Amino acid sequence: MLGQVFTPPTVAAWMTAWACARQPKRILEPSVGEGVFVDAIERQLLDQPGWRPRVDAHEVDEALRRKLLATRRDVELRLSATDFVLDNSTRGYDACVANPPYVRHHSLRYDEATYRRFDALVGERISRMTNLYGLFLLRIWERLADDGRAAVIVPAEWLNADFGRPLKRFLLSENAIDGVVFFEDDALVFDGALTTAVILLLRRGRRNAEPIRTAVLQDAAALSQLRFDNMRAVDAATLDPARKWSNLLANPGSDRESPEATGTLADVAICMRGIATGANDYFTLTEPQRIEAGLDMSDLKPCITKANHAPTNDFGSSDLEKLRAAAQKAWLLDPREPVCEAVERYLARGRARGIHERYLPSHRPVWYRPEKRAAAPIWAPVFVRGRFRFIRNSARAMNLTAFHGLYPRRADLLSIDLLLEYLWSDAAQRAISAQSRIYGGGLRKLEPRDVLAIPIPESLLATLGDY
Ligand SMILES: C[S@@+](CC[C@H](N)C(=O)[O-])C[C@H]1O[C@@H](n2cnc3c(N)ncnc32)[C@H](O)[C@@H]1O
Repeated sequence: MLGQVFTPPTVAAWMTAWACARQPKRILEPSVGEGVFVDAIERQLLDQPGWRPRVDAHEVDEALRRKLLATRRDVELRLSATDFVLDNSTRGYDACVANPPYVRHHSLRYDEATYRRFDALVGERISRMTNLYGLFLLRIWERLADDGRAAVIVPAEWLNADFGRPLKRFLLSENAIDGVVFFEDDALVFDGALTTAVILLLRRGRRNAEPIRTAVLQDAAALSQLRFDNMRAVDAATLDPARKWSNLLANPGSDRESPEATGTLADVAICMRGIATGANDYFTLTEPQRIEAGLDMSDLKPCITKANHAPTNDFGSSDLEKLRAAAQKAWLLDPREPVCEAVERYLARGRARGIHERYLPSHRPVWYRPEKRAAAPIWAPVFVRGRFRFIRNSARAMNLTAFHGLYPRRADLLSIDLLLEYLWSDAAQRAISAQSRIYGGGLRKLEPRDVLAIPIPESLLATLGDY
């Protein structure tokens, strides 16, 4: 078990720019893999001719080490085969860039003496269930010199998991955390971790009152626009290591719940973005377009493409009929296998327009087949003005990206009614306001994460959480 999940170059570039902003002399890469961070450092050198740092790297996989050494480098790279956790050098580093290995505790073979060294560092017993990346975090912090900076990408799970508590307590007591960058979607998911990634920024020499900067980004590409100084400020003193930090850091203010709120929507439901087709004008059809193409209704699914196509809190079959009668897009191509002649003709039209080569279609297993989803019982429009809307999807239509789909774990009608009744209430609307981001002109945006962070009262939790 080596936990080999490599960092996308755009992410490595952003992390390196932050960690190496002050032209560090000694840089640590404790789990170097194929060397994406070394590449990023070298690219940064191109713009800064006078800067010649030394990079000390560790890699336990011999094949990767050989590959790295075969590459000619502009930077002075020293590669060690020593397990970084066991490396007992005390050399301090001005910067560290890392994507530590994700390895669960039951695959780790460290002896008790090793764990006790960590206990001594942290000042309490660390959980023996700590994932390898947690041990890396502690060692990285230990090896940072005065004013040193570390940009480390790790799964977000430790922010909420029990094993993360001693780590959070320690990093807070050291005033180590300068910033945390979250990602909305699952583009940066660690194998088998069921969690998205966070970039953790650690810095020695922070002043006492300095806030922790946080940002929630849609995806890795959004890093190109992210400036550290523009990130949201959170007062470190408000962070309790015993609480789940994902929500507190990603949605500051969300802990200002009503006293009776004991859980969040995440305890009773999941929320997913709507289906992204990559070419709505082709993959969605109006009724006249369906008829003209000779497509059978069984090769399409009813769908909703725009927020204003669902004007009330309930979207039923009659609303679908109205959309069809008004020649609005209300069908999503989802052909049966084997595809029939009419579908084949429609696919040929798509190929002729180059639809199959567009980004999303070309990245799907079958370019014309949308993501497999059940119809969501409840929709939440992504953008709203005024009250937040939650729509009962009685028509069982598929939602495209104008809506998030909410899937209560208990999906019987009564549970859905109870949940909707709460979401429509003034108390819920106030709680939701605390989660939303406000754009220009009072436009508010809800991300799936925001929807899931909505506090819910104990009574509802008891009814809907019992699944
Ligand atoms: C998550 S990958 C990251 C690689 C690279 N830094 C990147 O960002 O793409 C972690 C790397 O650490 C190596 N590794 C695993 N356990 C290690 C250990 N105890 N000490 C040093 N390297 C280790 C793995 O072989 C793997 O290449």
